Amino acid sequence: MRILLTLLFCLTCPLALAKTFITADAYVDVESGKTFENPVVIVDGVLIETIRGNLRDASPDDEVINLAGKTLMPGLFDMHVHLIGNKMLKGAARVQESDQVALLAGMANARAMLMAGVTTVRSLGSSSYGDIALRDGIKAGYVIGPRVFASGPALGITGGHCDNNWMPRERDIRNAGVANGPWEVAAKVRENIKFGSDVIKFCATGGVMSKGTKVGVQQYTLEEMKMIVSEAHRRGLIVAAHAHGTSGIKDAIRAGVDSVEHASYIDDEGIKLAVENGTYLSMDIYVTEYILGQGIADGIPEENIEKERTVGNIQRENFRKAVNAGVRMVMGTDAGVYPDFSDSPTQLSRMVEFGMTPTQALQAATINAATLLNKQETLGSLKAGKVADIIAVDGNPLEDISLLEHVTFVMKEGTVYKQ
Ligand code: ARG
Repeated sequence: MRILLTLLFCLTCPLALAKTFITADAYVDVESGKTFENPVVIVDGVLIETIRGNLRDASPDDEVINLAGKTLMPGLFDMHVHLIGNKMLKGAARVQESDQVALLAGMANARAMLMAGVTTVRSLGSSSYGDIALRDGIKAGYVIGPRVFASGPALGITGGHCDNNWMPRERDIRNAGVANGPWEVAAKVRENIKFGSDVIKFCATGGVMSKGTKVGVQQYTLEEMKMIVSEAHRRGLIVAAHAHGTSGIKDAIRAGVDSVEHASYIDDEGIKLAVENGTYLSMDIYVTEYILGQGIADGIPEENIEKERTVGNIQRENFRKAVNAGVRMVMGTDAGVYPDFSDSPTQLSRMVEFGMTPTQALQAATINAATLLNKQETLGSLKAGKVADIIAVDGNPLEDISLLEHVTFVMKEGTVYKQ
């Protein structure tokens, strides 16, 4: 009956589907770093038809959203997140969470990120293929969340940062991405691609949050890294390397990775290599505040707290050096190490504090990230023909970057999620 009524109704209605007209005080053109006044953005389906529309063209069926006092900009990108799992579980406690429950927690995490204005994320490592399931669930409309580019299990050496070292030998627990030697890593890349990865993540060095790894020490050899990269690139996937230590960072760049994550102990030669190779750095300079603050109360093991104490300040100093040297930068926060996923945009003000202009910070979190993902033609800025991922803040974010911590409007692919 309802279908019949709808059909009858639609015989009388115009064929064109309703459009959305958004007016605001201004919008940020992230590419030029300029704001322009009084945009009228027309959204047709999932795409932006124009930024400079005219309200007079709105038909009675169209929706008009008036965002007076607000500035529009493209949705934010976080290029390093771990959506799957209840992130209040620390250390060994995580091993007890089932993949199914972890995925349900991931749904809540994804929703929180979208509501904070993050419309695209890159998931870099989940112990199962949960991030790929979440990506597909969001795409299918079962779940509300950002667009996800997912890695599935991160590759790593036995006992390395991307393995699971919390249990004794007799429990026989290892992470799904463990692979050693060139042919094993090649096979693992192929397996991840088979099960749907968009991006390959591997651990080049030790890390902060793992058990029994030294942050600065290289884990994969150059030979292994080269195999991972050539295998992934040949199949059209980008590669992200977790690397804190100096030699691991440089070998990852030499191997041809698309982005280096953390990059804490990068030296001058590493910075030069990154510039020459066009390698992106994704430096999570906000998470230190959580780990050494609330993280201690939340129960992060002492071993990990100790490691963070050695890394945090050096990473921020090197962030400044890399920015000054003109390295390509994206925003990656490691959301999931801190449990409140709506915190992601907080890193923007830290990126300004440690050396970026507000424009550079916004570029790192939008157009640069879209370019790293090879999606610069469709995502990353407010432009006619691009996907309508639009957020708004009260005031001008180029004058006060911390306004991004209070995003008041979120549209993803033409659908409003927060207003
Ligand atoms: N996932 C990273 C690791 O365990 C987090 C590093 C956090 N610390 C930092 N200063 N960025 O190594």
